[in-house]
Amino acid sequence: MKTNAFRVYKHGGPAVLKWETVDVPAPGKGEALIKHTAVGLNLADTYRRTGLYPIKLPSGIGNEAVGVVEAVGPGTRGVKVGDRVGYIGGMALDGYSQRRVAPVGSLIPIPDYINDRTAAAALLKGITAQYLLRDSYRVKKGDTIVVHAAAGGVGLIMCQWANAIGATVIGIVSSEEKAKIAKKNGCHHPIVVKRSKPKFAKKVRELTNGEGAHCIYDSVGRDTWEESLASVRLRGSVISFGSASGKPPKTDIADTGGLGSPYIARCALVNYTTSRSETMARARDLFKAIKTGAVKISVNQRYKLKDAAQAHKDIEARKTTGSTVLLP
Ligand SMILES: NC(=O)c1ccc[n+]([C@@H]2O[C@H](COP(=O)([O-])OP(=O)(O)OC[C@H]3O[C@@H](n4cnc5c(N)ncnc54)[C@H](OP(=O)(O)O)[C@@H]3O)[C@@H](O)[C@H]2O)c1
Repeated sequence: MKTNAFRVYKHGGPAVLKWETVDVPAPGKGEALIKHTAVGLNLADTYRRTGLYPIKLPSGIGNEAVGVVEAVGPGTRGVKVGDRVGYIGGMALDGYSQRRVAPVGSLIPIPDYINDRTAAAALLKGITAQYLLRDSYRVKKGDTIVVHAAAGGVGLIMCQWANAIGATVIGIVSSEEKAKIAKKNGCHHPIVVKRSKPKFAKKVRELTNGEGAHCIYDSVGRDTWEESLASVRLRGSVISFGSASGKPPKTDIADTGGLGSPYIARCALVNYTTSRSETMARARDLFKAIKTGAVKISVNQRYKLKDAAQAHKDIEARKTTGSTVLLP
């Protein structure tokens, strides 16, 4: 069978994304053929495209999509034809495609009350928000946290969820319009910063009676890391989980005593979804948050899948808010 899919042969700008007709093999044992209905766009797709996150080339691209099972391999259990499923990795990067073969063990069944576009907008970003808020640092009622890129895909989910837990949320954003969106989504105190030299530590101290926040969730990296370290309270946590502006600078562990001995970690989804049971437990927690209304998923941009290069340009230019889906 043939399908259309993106291939990447060299790292570079959005133009290196090549829309091609490729062969899809028949599913083998333990595999299913999935017809995608919605593909999730993630900033990390751009990191892989540019080589900031190295991948072996040539490659497909995209590790989040939702679709329907069209066939299963011989002797395969766990899913059947017609099931609605999604995934957030655990297989080759072929998410930007119309059809693909996927290992059944990495497929997440989508509940009836979540439509395909919402699921593709929610799975990877929502499971990331889940592990960040529940595990990397366990947010409690009464805590104050700082969320970077608060009006973005992961950001809007984190603001709502942390608010529902009972935390005070300070959000860092780069425009007044984004501040309004973050505020509508549970962020108590949006701070608008300059794109070139973001400054927010002083304001975080003001908002926390000089103490600093319990946890800083930094997905921006190079441009914000030092300010994030300056925003944390005594023995608080500083979590790096993205590099939107480039890798964070190196931190000398010997210097962190003078910063109040914060706990510092670089968190990656792959280290918090280490088994099917762990991934499914996080997915169930996310689905419950959506069902109860604690978290509402904002699908603010939709593109045809074949226009993925434009979607990459827009997310890199900070033009998007909330989640973005690509439609095959
Ligand atoms: N470690 C993990 O497990 C994990 C998993 C998923 C996502 N992530 C990370 O979480 C972050 C959010 O991902 P997302 O897909 O939801 O993207 P997103 O937040 O929707 O988009 C990225 C946002 O980052 C901000 N930003 C700051 N500096 C930027 C720069 N130089 N270039 C581009 N954007 C910049 C922009 O918001 P402002 O204009 O308001 O600054 C932009 O809208 C990313 O850093 C991603 O890598 C990490």
